[in-house]
Amino acid sequence: MGDETTLDAVTARAALRFLVEAGADEILADTPVHRFALPVAAPEPRLASVEARPANTPPPRPAPRPAPAPALIPAGDQLESARALASAAQTLDALKEAVARFEGCSLKITANSLVFADGNPHGAVMLIGEAPGSDEDRMGKPFVGRSGQLLDKMLGAIGIDRTQVYITNVLPWRPPGNRTPTAEEAALCAPFLLRHIALVRPKVLVLLGATPAKHLLNNDTGITRLRGRWQRYQADDLDIPVLPTFHPAFLLRSPLSKKLSWMDLLALQHFLTAGQSGE
Ligand code: URA
Repeated sequence: MGDETTLDAVTARAALRFLVEAGADEILADTPVHRFALPVAAPEPRLASVEARPANTPPPRPAPRPAPAPALIPAGDQLESARALASAAQTLDALKEAVARFEGCSLKITANSLVFADGNPHGAVMLIGEAPGSDEDRMGKPFVGRSGQLLDKMLGAIGIDRTQVYITNVLPWRPPGNRTPTAEEAALCAPFLLRHIALVRPKVLVLLGATPAKHLLNNDTGITRLRGRWQRYQADDLDIPVLPTFHPAFLLRSPLSKKLSWMDLLALQHFLTAGQSGE
């Protein structure tokens, strides 16, 4: 402590708190990576002096300049790019590749992994969560952290597991600090989610929490009112029953709500055995 490059404890703690609130809440490598750094421009070539160049020697060519950083694509074009990439994908593997190639969502810069999906794409149930958290970002799979463990227990309670369901999220990249996705992020990634549903063609969609309900059903009703009430997802030739329910992360914070969640799970089980949603 003491020299000019060392932070005092109070400032260091404040800086750390700022970073955690901004989403930099864990150490991933020994050395920091500046993901927003622009490429370092090569130094301008120095012209050799006329006197130093022997006669008949052509003047040296200037070194090539580094390519300019790509211009930011305007929002409308980003959405168009997402739509074009998504609609060209004819398989889930192609869709995953298309998402990986999409450069229009800035979350890709801060995330460590693309979190596409997990489970069985031939299962009857497709679960849609909000966005990857830090565990998912590290592992590249949805719902592998505490919420995921609870989700597995919830599914187990009605006799199913991940080999029978398919799981994805509204966003394939982790928002810094696990914040709620913005409307713009959700809209930019929506073409991929809609194509995902169209390729999987599940028998039933289960929406975990308010975020997928808001962006998929275009429904701003709070999840407390919406949960347990069957909805429909209609697009092109699809007409799929949708069951909104609480997000497992909410249930971890609010265990008393598990009672309501259990009712939703029973409704899902009834749908799977009787083939009817009871709308
Ligand atoms: N919460 C989500 O909504 N999705 C995940 O994948 C993990 C936590």
